[in-house]
Amino acid sequence: MCGIVGYVGYRSVVDILLDGLEQLEYRGYDSSGIAVKCENDIKVYKAIGKLNNLREELKSHVSEFSKSTMGIGHIRWATHGAPTVLNAHPHTCNHGDLVLVHNGIIENYKELRERLEKRGCVFKSQTDTEVAAHLIADKYNETGDLTEAVRLATKEIEGAYALCVMHNDHRTTIVATKRNAPLLVGLGDGEYLIASDVPAIIKYTKKAMYLTDNQIVTVTPNSIKLINQEGVEVPQKIEMLPWEPVALSKMGYKHFMLKEIHEQPDVIRNILVGKLHTAAEPVILNEVKLTKDTLKKLNRIQIIACGTSLHAAMVGKYLIETFCGISVDVEASSEYIYRQTVTDEHTLVIGVSQSGETADTLTAIKQAKSKGSHILIITNRPDSSMAREADSLLSVNAGIEVSVAATKSYIAQLMAFYLLSLYMAEIKESTDLSIIQSIKNELMLLPQKIEQVLSNTDEIQKCARKYSGTKDFIYIARGINLPTALEGALKLKEISYINATGYAAGELKHGPIAMLDESMPVLSILMKGIVYEKLLSNSEEAKARNARMIALTNSNDPKLDELFDCIIRVPEVQEFLSPILAVIPLQLIAYYIAEFLGKDVDQPRNLAKSVTVE
Ligand code: M6R
Repeated sequence: MCGIVGYVGYRSVVDILLDGLEQLEYRGYDSSGIAVKCENDIKVYKAIGKLNNLREELKSHVSEFSKSTMGIGHIRWATHGAPTVLNAHPHTCNHGDLVLVHNGIIENYKELRERLEKRGCVFKSQTDTEVAAHLIADKYNETGDLTEAVRLATKEIEGAYALCVMHNDHRTTIVATKRNAPLLVGLGDGEYLIASDVPAIIKYTKKAMYLTDNQIVTVTPNSIKLINQEGVEVPQKIEMLPWEPVALSKMGYKHFMLKEIHEQPDVIRNILVGKLHTAAEPVILNEVKLTKDTLKKLNRIQIIACGTSLHAAMVGKYLIETFCGISVDVEASSEYIYRQTVTDEHTLVIGVSQSGETADTLTAIKQAKSKGSHILIITNRPDSSMAREADSLLSVNAGIEVSVAATKSYIAQLMAFYLLSLYMAEIKESTDLSIIQSIKNELMLLPQKIEQVLSNTDEIQKCARKYSGTKDFIYIARGINLPTALEGALKLKEISYINATGYAAGELKHGPIAMLDESMPVLSILMKGIVYEKLLSNSEEAKARNARMIALTNSNDPKLDELFDCIIRVPEVQEFLSPILAVIPLQLIAYYIAEFLGKDVDQPRNLAKSVTVE
C-alpha cells in the first residue's frame, strides 16, 4: 500500500527519500515520486513502475536538487485513478507552491472537488488526494500558516489519511498528520524524518514518535511541535524503536520469501521462549490480561482477520473449540464490520494481523472495543495501530516480514493459537492433561521437523516444475487442515497468478468435481488422523476423473503410490500439529512455481503488504 517518507535536516534529501522509499517497497506499489525544496521553488519528479524508473528520471536533474535538504516522497498503490505519472504523488495545488503526499482514501473527495473547482482549482489527476492539496492551499491563502491550514483542511476531510505537506514559502518546514493510517516521526540530531513505517527511518534514528489520529506535527531541522485538531499543543510520546537496520537483508537468499520460509524453525523457537518450558509445566501467557475467573466463564470468542491471518484464525477456532469447549466464530474483518454482530462485554474478540495495520481488521477491532469486548491482538508488530487498541497483546516476534506473501508470520500466528488454546485449556481444565502434554512435547520438536523438510526440497521442486505450466490448481483437505489447503492456494495465486482454490474435500462432489479432467492438478493434504481415510476416498474420486494427483502426507501407506503421480512427504506428526508441517511444502511449491515462471516473488503485481485502506 502507499508509503510516505519526509525529511528535513542537513543531509542530501534525495538520497534519504529514495532510500526510505526503497525500504517501503515491500508494501507494494505501482508508481513513485518525490518533491524537493530547491533554491526558488519546489521540484516534483515522478515515474510509474519500479523505483529504479524514478532513479533514472532523477539522473538528468541532479544539478537542480544537489544542495536540497528538505523533501517528501511517496510510493503509490493505485486506488482512485490508474497508475500513471499524473496520478502519482506528490500532488500540488494550482501554482505548485504547496505539495503533499498521502496514504489512505479521502471518502468525500467528490464533494470537495466540486466545491474547489467552483473556486477555480484546476485538477490534473483522477486521484482523491489532489483535493487535499487544493484544500490545504486554499486554507493557507486564508491564514498564511501551514500548520493551521492543515488543521483546518483536515477538519473537512472524511476518510483515512496520512499526509505530509510542504510549502514553497517555508524552506525548512514539513507538516504531517494522520487519521486511520499509520505515520511516525523519527527524531535525529538536527534532522527529522517522517514515514509510514519504521524501516524507512531506522537507518538514521531509533528515537521516534507515533502520531495518533488527528494529531498534527510540524518539524524544522531543530524543532518539533505537536498539536491536536483543536490546535492545542499536546505532549510528545517519544520512544526508542527496538529495531535493527540489518533486519532487511536477504542474507544470501534469492528472495525474501525464501529467506522467511527458512526462518520458520527459529520463529517457533523464539515464540516458545518464556512461554513453554517443559511439557509438565503450565503454559505461561502473561500477555493475556483476562482474569482466570473470566477465562473459565468465557463462552464466546470471535476471531477477526484477513487473508493468511484469517487462515491462522481458522486453525485457532479448531484448537480452541477442541481443547477449551468454547464456541468460536471466525470472520473476515471486511464482512464483520458491515453487519450487526452479536458482540458484547462477555465476548473475547481476537484480532489477528501480521502488520497490525490492516484497515478492515483495525476498524472491526475498534467496533468490538466500543461494545465493551476484551480485545486480544495477535500481531507481528507490537508497535502497530492494532497493538495500541489491545487489552491483551500477544506479539509473535517473527521479525520483520518483507515478502508480500506471508509465510513466517503465519507459522508464528499458528503457534500463538497453540499456546493460547493450551493456556486456556489448562485454566479451564477442559482437556485431558496427557493430551495437553503430548501436544506440548511435539510443539518443542517442530523446529527440527521443519528443518528436515527444508533440508531436502528435491521432490517439492520436481513437483513445482512439473505443474508450473498449469492454469488451475486445486487443494483439498478436511478438518484442521482445511485452512492449510486455503493457505496453500492463496500462496500460489498471489505469487504465480495461477487460479488456485482450496476446498473442503467432502465438498468436491457437490460441485467442484465437475471441473476435474486430465489437465487439473489436485493436491491432497493427507495427514494421518481422523479424516485420513475419508480424504483418501475423496482423492480416489478425483483420480477417477483423471485429475493429476499430488499427495502431501506423513504416511507411508503403499496405496498412495498407485493413487498419486507425485508424493511429498513430511515427518511424522500428530494430527493437531500437522497444519504447521503441512504448510511448509505448500509455501515452497508456490515459491518454486513462481520462481520457475519468472514472477516477481517478493512484490507480486497488484498486491500490498500492508492493506491500509478498506
Ligand atoms: O497484516 P495482515 O495479517 O492483517 O494482512 C492480512 C492480509 O492482507 C495478508 O495476510 C495477505 O493475504 C498476504 N499477502 C497473504 O500472503
